Amino acid sequence: MNDKHITIAIDGPGGAGKSTVADAVAEKLGILHLDTGAMYRAFAFQALSEGISPDDEQGLSELAGRIEMDIAFENGAQRTIVNGKDVSDSIRTPEISFAASTCSKAGAVRRRMVGMQQALAKTRSMILDGRDIGTKVLTGATLKVYLTATPEERAKRRYEQLLQNGQKADYRNVLADVVARDHQDSTRAIDPLRPAEDAVIVDSTDFTQAQTVQAVLKLLEARV
Ligand code: DC
Repeated sequence: MNDKHITIAIDGPGGAGKSTVADAVAEKLGILHLDTGAMYRAFAFQALSEGISPDDEQGLSELAGRIEMDIAFENGAQRTIVNGKDVSDSIRTPEISFAASTCSKAGAVRRRMVGMQQALAKTRSMILDGRDIGTKVLTGATLKVYLTATPEERAKRRYEQLLQNGQKADYRNVLADVVARDHQDSTRAIDPLRPAEDAVIVDSTDFTQAQTVQAVLKLLEARV
């Protein structure tokens, strides 16, 4: 990788493999991967632990004004720290997935998270994955990818991931969660999930992870 400052935006629905692919691309290029979903999850985690409902816009707005969130990278791996506590391992539950999606509708929450993400991406070359990276956070990104897969395939991947992590899961419930979160993320008023006009749509339904990573690297080659 040369010294040119580059930014890569990977957006798409939950379970499309954005985070895993972004990790692999970041490692290949020797740049950092910022998982912006982890930030919304950490925010939701803090809201729930303070008894603030993800639907309480005023409570969320007040929390957005005072929450302390730090992103650290340990050997390239992101740690998300809220009010001094590393919550990275506590935010990967179905409950937090949905609460993060609901909290992320609030304007004050989005403004705070987007501001942090933009400040981080200015400091060095990065790949960011999320829902609004290409449309809001990094509108001038070197490469924008919209990574998607069918809801059934995404539910299958999530389901297998939950089992692997030793959590209980029922495929039908996972699929219902995937569909509900897609709906909530793509119909919210502020910066909903949608491909940027200049994003390349990559459908990973029939791709292995390695094939998806190759596809992204190839798209980048054409742009740097
Ligand atoms: O990528 P994820 O599943 O960890 O994201 C959790 C939720 O956070 C997602 O359902 C919507 C929200 N989110 C967002 O609104 N904008 C982002 N850039 C990333 C996530």
